[in-house]
Amino acid sequence: IKTIGVLTSGGDAPGMNAAIRAVVRKALSRGLKVKGIYKGYNGLLNEEIKDMTARDVSDIISRGGTVLYTARCAEFRTPEGQAKGAEVCRKHGIDGLVVIGGDGSFAGAQKLAALGINTIGIPGTIDLDIACTEYTIGFDTAINTAMEAIDKVRDTSTSHERCSIIEVMGRGAGYIALYCGIANGAEDILLPEKYDYDEQKLINNIIENRKRGKKHHIIINAEGIGHSASMARRIEAATGMETRATILGHMQRGGSPTCTDRVYASMMGSYAVDLLAEGKTNRVVGYRNGEFTDFDIDEALAMQKSISEYMYDVSKALSI
Ligand code: F6P
Repeated sequence: IKTIGVLTSGGDAPGMNAAIRAVVRKALSRGLKVKGIYKGYNGLLNEEIKDMTARDVSDIISRGGTVLYTARCAEFRTPEGQAKGAEVCRKHGIDGLVVIGGDGSFAGAQKLAALGINTIGIPGTIDLDIACTEYTIGFDTAINTAMEAIDKVRDTSTSHERCSIIEVMGRGAGYIALYCGIANGAEDILLPEKYDYDEQKLINNIIENRKRGKKHHIIINAEGIGHSASMARRIEAATGMETRATILGHMQRGGSPTCTDRVYASMMGSYAVDLLAEGKTNRVVGYRNGEFTDFDIDEALAMQKSISEYMYDVSKALSI
């Protein structure tokens, strides 16, 4: 391997810049050249590619977003798009590629690997929905951002003795909801992974909690369940308790990354370069049982992840 390309793909996540910085500087320190590919696979197809020096990644470790920009690219899902991507890599002398993104981005990386470009994925998503790893870049910052926002909603919810439904991101996964549910002491957490979602049970719980003297009722609703505004109207009608919905939205994706996100993203970026330098391809970096490790992308994409039942039970037990 002589030249490594790096791109970010899919939704951005705080800590992606730390990973880019690590890829660039680790590669340079190993005597490799690095090229930044802008706007994800879109930028690869459009040849938005620039040589990266150590100075190009100065002052970015503390910044949210991604200095390489990102995109979701429909063309790259087609065999023609993938073949063109491999050709562009070859044209620019890129023989190793680091893709920072989620499962969808890894599916693209897998195709490039099959077309002869040595490719390594780094899990970057606030959703934590990548099965092979217990850590994804951005999750820690996102839960801290959401937690602080929910604390603020809780203050006003208590003052007005209201029910507040707060919707958090996570696509089809409930990890942000589960962590915030515990961290914010929510009365209820609604997760797409739990099939026992029953609005009547929720309403009964609100009424019971009110009788027990609770001043507010905080419901953390995962985006995968959604419909927070109409849920609020139904709950208010059924309980007589004033109910408001707050959708936190994209604020959860921004902001300066936490220490954990900076450190783990730096480790993963370095690890990815080491894998490429060792001639590895079609791998994804992961973190499991306290160690940074790597998996075959095909195997990683086939793995399933589930919500910790014990964490969910704890959230329930502590919300009385
Ligand atoms: O994957 C990250 C994420 O923020 C999800 O939580 C959410 O469902 C999605 O991206 C939103 O995507 P967009 O920014 O394209 O609206």
